[in-house]
Amino acid sequence: MIFDSHAHYEDEKFDSDRIELLSGMREKGIGTVINVGSTIETSEKSIALAETYEDVYAAVGVHPSEIECLGEEGMEWLKDRSAHPKVVAIGEIGLDYYWDKDPEVRMRQQYWFRRQLQLAAEVKLPVIIHSRDAAEDTMKILREFYGQHPEIKTPGVMHCYSYSPEIAEELIAKGWYIGVGGVVTFKNAKKLVETVKRIPVERILSETDCPYMAPEPYRGKRNSSYYLPEILQKIGEIKGITPEETEWITEENARRMYGIAAGKADENSGKTEEEKDERL
Ligand code: NI
Repeated sequence: MIFDSHAHYEDEKFDSDRIELLSGMREKGIGTVINVGSTIETSEKSIALAETYEDVYAAVGVHPSEIECLGEEGMEWLKDRSAHPKVVAIGEIGLDYYWDKDPEVRMRQQYWFRRQLQLAAEVKLPVIIHSRDAAEDTMKILREFYGQHPEIKTPGVMHCYSYSPEIAEELIAKGWYIGVGGVVTFKNAKKLVETVKRIPVERILSETDCPYMAPEPYRGKRNSSYYLPEILQKIGEIKGITPEETEWITEENARRMYGIAAGKADENSGKTEEEKDERL
């Protein structure tokens, strides 16, 4: 089934139909959703969604543009909540230089990025990286940090990937996954298409980042996991495989990275034994 490795269903844009959307996932072929925090408050809401819906898992972390809400107390809270059985990653964390030009703010972003990487290493969870217009500093920090932690074989995912194919190849060689979402369907997505062409499909995670980043032909509208087939179709086209194969492989990738076993979702998927055998 389809795996949405990055969603924000706590967002107010889902206030009117959140229950309907999340209850109807299986019917639309969506098997698992990772709801990703970007502040302490949204991390808490992500856990609440994961507690309510069997197929929803949570990531807790503070986004680089939201670090003002983070401090020692926040770090303690994140550490405590990371032990929750449905918390599967620390994220989204990283650097965002698109809005913040102030060098002092950028230094603070780097500080809290490093601290959250350290936390993820401590609690042995993968990270979800948000990095925008900050390739050089992001890579510098990752090279340094994981250079000191060779024991970490699967650091995490670079979500909504927007850098060069070369950087993607370096990340993959170091065990990272590459998050690909709606942007891949955009007409001006040449660099991302080139990246997807060059990297193994076994390293791609499918994601929406909903309510943002709706794929074509829904660009500009509110996004949801229901639009993931458009993204899988496009990835399949680039890789020369069917949308079904793309779905199956990206689901396996995400399960592997987040450490979510396949058994549970299949038990309840309503598939007959024969259908399950076919898949094997
Ligand atoms: Ni996000």
